Amino acid sequence: MSRLVIISNRVAVAKARGAAGAQGGLAGALNSALKKYGGIWFGWSGEEAEETTGHLQLNTNDGVTTATIDLSTNDVEEYYNGYANSTLWPLFHYRIDLTEYENETGRGYERVNETFAKSVSLLTEPDDLIWVHDYHLLPLGERLRARGHKNRIGFFLHTPWPPARLFVSLPYHERLVRTMLEYDVIGFQTEEWLGSFQHYCAKELGAEVDEVTGKITFEGRVTHARAYPIGVDWDHIQAQGETPEARQAAQRMLSSTRHRTAMIGVDRLDYSKGLPERIDGISRFFDQNPDRARDLVFVQIAPPSREDVDSYQKIRAELEQKTGQINGAWSEVDIVPIRYVNKGHSLAELCGFYRASKIGLVTPLRDGMNLVAKEYIAAQDPDDPGVLILSQFAGAAHQLTEALLVNPHSPDNLARAIAEALDMPLSERKRRYDILVKTVRDDDIHGWTQNFVSDLKHIP
Ligand code: F6P
Repeated sequence: MSRLVIISNRVAVAKARGAAGAQGGLAGALNSALKKYGGIWFGWSGEEAEETTGHLQLNTNDGVTTATIDLSTNDVEEYYNGYANSTLWPLFHYRIDLTEYENETGRGYERVNETFAKSVSLLTEPDDLIWVHDYHLLPLGERLRARGHKNRIGFFLHTPWPPARLFVSLPYHERLVRTMLEYDVIGFQTEEWLGSFQHYCAKELGAEVDEVTGKITFEGRVTHARAYPIGVDWDHIQAQGETPEARQAAQRMLSSTRHRTAMIGVDRLDYSKGLPERIDGISRFFDQNPDRARDLVFVQIAPPSREDVDSYQKIRAELEQKTGQINGAWSEVDIVPIRYVNKGHSLAELCGFYRASKIGLVTPLRDGMNLVAKEYIAAQDPDDPGVLILSQFAGAAHQLTEALLVNPHSPDNLARAIAEALDMPLSERKRRYDILVKTVRDDDIHGWTQNFVSDLKHIP
């Protein structure tokens, strides 16, 4: 069996999701893929050094071998804070108002991709399957090809892919996508992001796109682009939900919210997650239902993220201000309507919190998939499940159609959904949960890995 060589910006052996809810689905997903297939996971250590030397640090933990390198402060600034998180991330989340178009950071991005390619070259053998992840590393496949690698190389994008009209605002957009066409298989979370990519390739590059098979032919080279919606590790969540840590967490939540309904949000503190808009929706609910202000406690867990990037500092300040305002307006001596928690929690604790919360609020303005929505469902008590309120703009909304789907930009729409969730009878909650849980359980992380890896091996 071929080994897997997984490459992502950061390597994270998921023990606890420290700054996570934050590591997103990526860490859990890749750990489980490596446990199954064996191999190695390469990426940035997360540490800064004076210089990028390419010195490899190898480690084996819980059956997963990782190889990392440190990056120089300048590389981190240009590649990670700069091009990846101030250009590609906002652009891919449809935020051209926040997108910075600096050629210098673009050069840093290419330089670090080349550094990654050099290191990966030292780690791979000819029949390894190479699987590259996310927007930080779009050109890596082409860099590996330039070094002579004939391996099967796949790429999976965990974020949305924007419509062509937005994507062309990126200088050198064509050059970037041409590099991507060196991959054998390109995966997207949903048909929607896949469609935007195919549309771009056909319209801007003049590539031949077969929408049925996913085959894209361009200048004599063939790649396949398909949708592979990522899932959660169902068994792992069930096991975590049974731990004393999870039970204690549920108990903490229940005993501190007695007689009131707990509503929970868990997100990296990121402008794509729609956090200020969420607070506006809750505020509208209180305005419209003042007599119910005592019935509801909203717990927002939001570990800070990418703190060196300006737009992240701004969103944090905005969220703190809005939370302060609403708490000022609606608190009583014995009640604080919004609990804003600025740190990460382990998956076990999150499972306990999810289960004790009768409403899960997942309302990103744009999201590749959003695994919190799936985790929330997986952690519910089947006999008394909570209600998931989900943004229609999350990739997960394509699958979780029995959630209460909302437009996160509309405070009225959010307020109405909260009222509906609070009043939903048990029979309706169960009906919806039964359908949702089937999707979350059946399309879990193992299926996702298997589908992608099998295509990477077998598509001609
Ligand atoms: O796809 C979302 C993502 O960028 C993942 O690649 C990453 O694991 C997660 O968000 C956390 O981001 P960061 O490493 O920038 O904290």
